[in-house]
Order: sequence, then C-alpha cells, then structure tokens
Amino acid sequence: MGLFDDVLRSDQTLVRNADALDYEFLPKALPYREGQQKYLATCIKPLFNSLPGRNLFIFGAPGIGKTAATKFVMRDLEDQTDEIEILFINCWQHNTTYKILMEMCDILGYRFTQNKKTVELFKVVSSMLNKKAAVFIFDEIDQVEDFDFLYFVLEEIHKKSIFLITNYHEFLVEIDERIKSRLTPELVEFKPYTEKETKDILKVRSELALYPGVLDVSGFDLIAKKTFELKDIRTGIFLLKESTLQAEEKSSKRITLENVSEAVKKLEEFTIKNAGLLEAETKIIYDLVRENSGKKIGDLFKLYQKRGGASSYKTFQRKIAKLEEGKFIKTMRQTGEGGNTTIVEKTLKDF
Ligand SMILES: Nc1ncnc2c1ncn2[C@@H]1O[C@H](COP(=O)(O)OP(=O)(O)OP(=O)(O)O)[C@@H](O)[C@H]1O
Ligand SMILES: [Mg+2]
Repeated sequence: MGLFDDVLRSDQTLVRNADALDYEFLPKALPYREGQQKYLATCIKPLFNSLPGRNLFIFGAPGIGKTAATKFVMRDLEDQTDEIEILFINCWQHNTTYKILMEMCDILGYRFTQNKKTVELFKVVSSMLNKKAAVFIFDEIDQVEDFDFLYFVLEEIHKKSIFLITNYHEFLVEIDERIKSRLTPELVEFKPYTEKETKDILKVRSELALYPGVLDVSGFDLIAKKTFELKDIRTGIFLLKESTLQAEEKSSKRITLENVSEAVKKLEEFTIKNAGLLEAETKIIYDLVRENSGKKIGDLFKLYQKRGGASSYKTFQRKIAKLEEGKFIKTMRQTGEGGNTTIVEKTLKDF
C-alpha cells in the first residue's frame, strides 16, 4: 500500500446523495411506519366520496417519523387526486391564527393578502376550499398561541380531515372544549423505534447518502448505538453528516470509528457551544433542565435553590421562558390533580 493511498483526491467524495443527510429529506420508503400510514390514509378516504374525513391527534417523541409518515401519505394523496387540497402547516413557523391563514393563502396560491384582516382571509380560504375537499395538517400544534384558526376550519370548511401532530399526549387536554367537542379526534401514537429498527433505518439512510463501503462497520455501529440511546433518528443523521465532514476534512477515503467518535463529541459539544452564548445564571438553569428533563417547573426551582440559585421564582420563570424562546428547552402545560403545572424539557432538535 502506498503512503498516500488513503488520501482523497479532489474528484472523489464520500457522499453520493447529500440530500439524504438533510433532516427534511423524505425517503422513498418509510419502513416500520406502514401501519400508521395505512391508518392515516383510511381517515382521508371518505373525502374521495364527498363524505367527511376523520380527524386525528398524532403524538410521540421527537425524531421518530411522525412528520415523515404524514408527508409520505400526503405525497401519495397528491399523486392520486387534484380534488383534495393538502394544507400542511408547521406551527413552529406559523404560530398564530393570522400567520396560519397567511400560510394557507400561500399554499392555495392566493396572492392578494396585503392589508387583509384575519376575517377577510378566513373568507378567502373558505371560498377556495369549499369547492373541493381538504386535509389540514397542523404539525407541532403545541406551538400555537391561539386556536381561532382551528375553530374556523371546524366550522367553515365542509369536507375535511384535520390532523394535529405533537410530542405531547397531554396536549389534548389543553384544547378548548368548544373545539374538542367538534374535533373528536382519534388518537395515533408513534412509539420509539426498537434497536433493530433504528439500525435498519440508519443503514438504508447511510447507503443512500454514502458510496458503498466508505463507512466502517464499527463507525456505523456506534452511530446506531448512540441513536438508539437518544431515541431520535435525527441524532443518527447528524452523526452521519458530522462524521462524513470529519473524514472529508482529513481527506480520508473512509469514515472511521475515530471520525464517528469525533462526531459524537460534537453532539455533546453542540448544546454546550450554544449555551456558551447564555449568561451564567441562565446557563445554570439550562444545565439543570438538561439533567432533569421532564420535571415540573416548581420541582426544578427547588433543585435550583438547593444548588445555591439566588433568583426569585418569578425571575426563574422568566429565564425558563427565555430559554424556550431560544429553543434551548420546551415547556408544556399539564393539568393534573393538583391543578395546572408546567413541565420543562430539553430539546434535542437544534443540533
Ligand atoms: N421509518 C423511517 N424510515 C426512514 N427514515 C425515517 C423513519 N422515521 C424517521 N425517519 C427520518 O428521521 C428524521 C426525523 O423524522 P421526523 O421528522 O418524521 O420526526 P418527528 O417524529 O416528526 O419528530 P418531531 O416530533 O421532532 O417533529 C427524518 O429525517 C426522517 O426522514
Ligand atoms: Mg415533526
């Protein structure tokens, strides 16, 4: 073997399809979610016969195919008919009734939205949609600030299915009674993938993204292990991308266990790096949330005090809100026996 056999020439690369390293990439097949896809399709089918569709509340942890499975079904639906409009709205990006209606107009190709008030936009949307049937998908529904848009869709659009997607099962209790009683959704739970499923999914993804044989088996195994640990397929995609970059930087022809180990370090550094931008006190609170994800805000405050935190509860709450604004953490209102409380969770979304 020559000394420079390992060096990557500029005309060579490890990646054969960079799109497959993107979180938004929609693969040709979505194994292990066939049951859910079939069920989603069943709920839409009545719309083909001018009957009302069924509504769904889809929930499950981050990075386990909720959005992908739904988009998959919508892609098939789009290929099948022009008679059913698909309005897929990400409520993280569009989190108020006005923004959601603007997005609906955009999807429907209606351009004259300038200076129009929300009620006028309602009219535009309903007159366009009531000529046909429609499927509404509100992804990340827990991010919305108000529910007027949902009330409008329920009341004013005749032939429809509404899918709400969220990480939080408990979110359903948050929804206003007048909406819930009209929505009467069926529940669809997405459970995390097993170790074998995780491995299979990542295998297909890595084969799509990379040339055959470039990723060492031990490297792949570490990616799969880490992904299964964190129960989020996005972790695996991040590690694939990052270890590829590591190898490319070193002009290596192969992605080794060492490259993957470097990438794993980045996974941990990532949060630390972003957190470096936070002021000291907020950083302490952020670390506390990361170590105690899923706890009630009151319990977190007690822990904070135990660790010598000096801020008042009000200030603590404000800092939690700030962290949420920056998408470092997520909070969720929960109704329990003792009244309402807020659950605070870390988010692994923003690698
Ligand atoms: N069964 C599967 N087969 C192939 N790829 C998958 C599968 N499940 C998830 N993925 C991939 O994992 C990534 C995350 O999936 P997705 O965006 O659907 O997660 P999610 O459940 O909607 O998460 P979140 O709640 O954070 O929005 C996507 O890139 C998706 O293509
Ligand atoms: Mg999603």
